[in-house]
Amino acid sequence: MESAALSRIGLAGLAVMGQNLALNIADKGFPISVYNRTVSKVDETVARATEEGGLPLTGHHSPRDFVLSLSRPRSIIILVKAGPPVDQTIAALSRFLEPGDAIIDGGNEWYEHTERRISEASSQGLLYLGMGVSGGEEGARRGPSLMPGGSRQAFDNVADILSKVAAQVDDGPCVTYVGPGGSGNFVKMVHNGIEYGDMQLISEAYDVLRTIGGLSNQDLADIFDEWNRGELESFLIEITADIFKVKEEHGDGELVDKILDKTGMKGTGKWTVQQAAELSVAAPTIAASLDCRYLSGLKEEREAASGVLEQAGINNEALKASVGAVDKKRLIDDVRQALYASKICSYAQGMNLLRAKSQEKGWNLNLGELARIWKGGCIIRARFLDRIKQAYERNGSLPNLIVDPEFAREMVQRQGAWRRVVGLAIGAGISTPGMCASLSYFDTYRRSRLPANLVQAQRDLFGAHTYERIDRPGSFHTEWTKLARQCKAGLGVHN
Ligand SMILES: *[C@@H]1O[C@H](CO)[C@@H](O)[C@H](O)[C@H]1NC(C)=O
Ligand SMILES: *[C@@H]1O[C@H](CO)[C@@H](O)[C@H](O)[C@H]1NC(C)=O
Repeated sequence: MESAALSRIGLAGLAVMGQNLALNIADKGFPISVYNRTVSKVDETVARATEEGGLPLTGHHSPRDFVLSLSRPRSIIILVKAGPPVDQTIAALSRFLEPGDAIIDGGNEWYEHTERRISEASSQGLLYLGMGVSGGEEGARRGPSLMPGGSRQAFDNVADILSKVAAQVDDGPCVTYVGPGGSGNFVKMVHNGIEYGDMQLISEAYDVLRTIGGLSNQDLADIFDEWNRGELESFLIEITADIFKVKEEHGDGELVDKILDKTGMKGTGKWTVQQAAELSVAAPTIAASLDCRYLSGLKEEREAASGVLEQAGINNEALKASVGAVDKKRLIDDVRQALYASKICSYAQGMNLLRAKSQEKGWNLNLGELARIWKGGCIIRARFLDRIKQAYERNGSLPNLIVDPEFAREMVQRQGAWRRVVGLAIGAGISTPGMCASLSYFDTYRRSRLPANLVQAQRDLFGAHTYERIDRPGSFHTEWTKLARQCKAGLGVHN
């Protein structure tokens, strides 16, 4: 099976993403070898390459033939399920690899696994990259956003290929060397956490417009189409408009109304929230979106609870009526602004999580550059990422996106609408956990004095944890209970 000409790069793992990425690479003119343990997958990919006009792709049925078909130093992308399958694939291939060759894992891997594999690979003289790939099937085939981290040399060896294969935007290809260690996987994980937040916020906008505004799916399709021509322009808003248009094939109405309200997940959102907690970074919007997925999973419990609380006296219609008549046009405009402001807070949380991890690990992540490579190809691609990039370019040590002068002005312009939407939803009994979390995040972050003084007093009272004062340095402890008794006794005298 060995052909005389050697391939520039190899790809192992030919499920949908792997096949599409391999075809994309071949399509850009880079000869590629592909391999999968399941021979039919190899043949399928070769057939697709032939159908697409004879792309330079060769299939191999054994790990040895596959590895030996590559020019040196070799670079092999593996796209298999995260976890043990990655270790198995590495084991199968590395027997034939030689020092200087590189393995590039394109899966949604936990970053610590990548760090372990980097050191295992280096003990054999091999280079290793953990590369986040976003964009789904279509992105893999037409141009994904790529987030490679690990060996700089491994990146340099394939930088020309990745630059051509990635999505292209006005300021370059959607790929950059993210940083050392497991940083590529970590950045992809946070990307997915942000994606959870975006999807949650969009679903809340939908809920408010539908439930309080009484809008039809046709109205919603038009509104999302319109939003997609403005500051909210993004992949997720665009596909949401399309979803509202699809008719139900077995009856009247649209398919979206027939879908069971239970959200699935694969784990990267949960990791994001776990990491936020580990790093003591507040990420309430992303956490709210995760919590909402958990609660959505309790469909039967929720149906039972709905019955119990109706019996106990909750009346959905009365709650909805309690907010009075709404001006539809105004509601639509308010929801658009609430969605935008909530989104800024969610991205601020994700970016701060990246910065905290970068500081802990010494990754030296460039937040503006990461916002740039998310502008195309990936699921969270959006016009507004260019503004985030600019904010970090203006000020690399910006502590929070909210205090970038431009974003600060936008948040303030939108806060009236934002508060109206959240207030209306609360009044009507419609849960908007993501928008509420974002607004609370904003209000907590921007207030120079919080009720944390009282919490400190409580901690000092029951645990002698001490407190600091606003008017003099040092740490203090007070015999609160004893003093309170004395004061009470004093009060008694006055009575
Ligand atoms: C090959 O294909 C199978 C089934 O699609 C998959 O489970 C496996 O992980 C793939 N990868 C490799 C490297 O064999
Ligand atoms: C960056 O932002 C911080 C916080 O707002 C500010 O203190 C600092 O002066 C800014 N730096 C520049 C170069 O604008």
